[in-house]
Amino acid sequence: MIKEILEIPRILREFIKSPFVFDATALRKIKLAKRILIVGCGTSYHAGLLGAIFFEELSGKPVRVVSASEASHQNLNYDLVVVVSQSGETKDVLEFLRKIKPKKIFTIGISNSKNSLLSRLADFNIYQNVGLEKSIPATKTFISQVAILLQLALMGNKKNASLHESFKKLPNLMEKILERQEKIRAVAEKYKSFDKFFILGAGFNFPVALEGALKFKEAAGILAEGMLAGELKHGPITLVDKSSASLLIMPKDLRYWENLSLLLEIKKNGGPVVAITTEGNKDLDKIIKDVIYIPKTEELLYPFLATLVLQFLAYSSGVLRGYNVDKPRNLSKAVRI
Ligand code: BG6
Repeated sequence: MIKEILEIPRILREFIKSPFVFDATALRKIKLAKRILIVGCGTSYHAGLLGAIFFEELSGKPVRVVSASEASHQNLNYDLVVVVSQSGETKDVLEFLRKIKPKKIFTIGISNSKNSLLSRLADFNIYQNVGLEKSIPATKTFISQVAILLQLALMGNKKNASLHESFKKLPNLMEKILERQEKIRAVAEKYKSFDKFFILGAGFNFPVALEGALKFKEAAGILAEGMLAGELKHGPITLVDKSSASLLIMPKDLRYWENLSLLLEIKKNGGPVVAITTEGNKDLDKIIKDVIYIPKTEELLYPFLATLVLQFLAYSSGVLRGYNVDKPRNLSKAVRI
């Protein structure tokens, strides 16, 4: 898992140098699509949630994301379906593709396996090409899926020159985060015995909270709940006390002040808080002890940086708790049954 996390900046740099090339049919389908559906499971489902945000922000097109385990049972009416699965072998994903085949909806598959069953079923395939991912908790394949979905959403969207420029800088910013491993490991050490963990994100960082929580479950055996920051006060806050830890993903973006008020509320209830925020933000270390800084970037790109922190934090927590982070019990890389 750690080897694969450390590969991420290089993988992203290579993707930026040679992004995926689309054929004319796929390009036309993406540009003309009015109703888009993204389908995946687990980590790939979370990548899909980010993909939907990118599409909606950049092209204004509404996008729905459905877990593959549900998608086969719904009467779905879309003109473009994007299926995300790093293995390309997940049973629920394949079943869904077989089910919609007769509907003749254009399907795009995103997978890290060139000759997967998914690649035989989808109309057009995007091969992630990031090398085999051996660790069961997916890390590098998630970032690559999210980068590909961003590329899809940017297609035909020339207005975003500044986003393109910021995206190119991400690998360097990720390297900066990985230089701070000691700080992140120290946070993991301090919180390793907490079994109740809330991971909170608003807006673009909500899917990051879900994915971070999944990494905590898989790699560290911690029952972490990923949640919309705004939902904590509608019930779950009753569980906040000194025995529960909360991690707030709160870069200096449009949602920052809401997140800060939530942080104060959690503190008032005696809950320990870790915050991930933007470098240069001087507010937080006056209030709490555990602040992890990420470099400044565009709002839409913070999910890449916050995810990397959470992957490394979950990995470190798992190692410190004595877990086999690469092979968590009861899990396999692709669920074929
Ligand atoms: C699960 C794995 O079984 O399958 C998860 O344990 C993974 O880590 C999920 O995210 C989906 O896998 P895939 O290959 O379809 O992306």
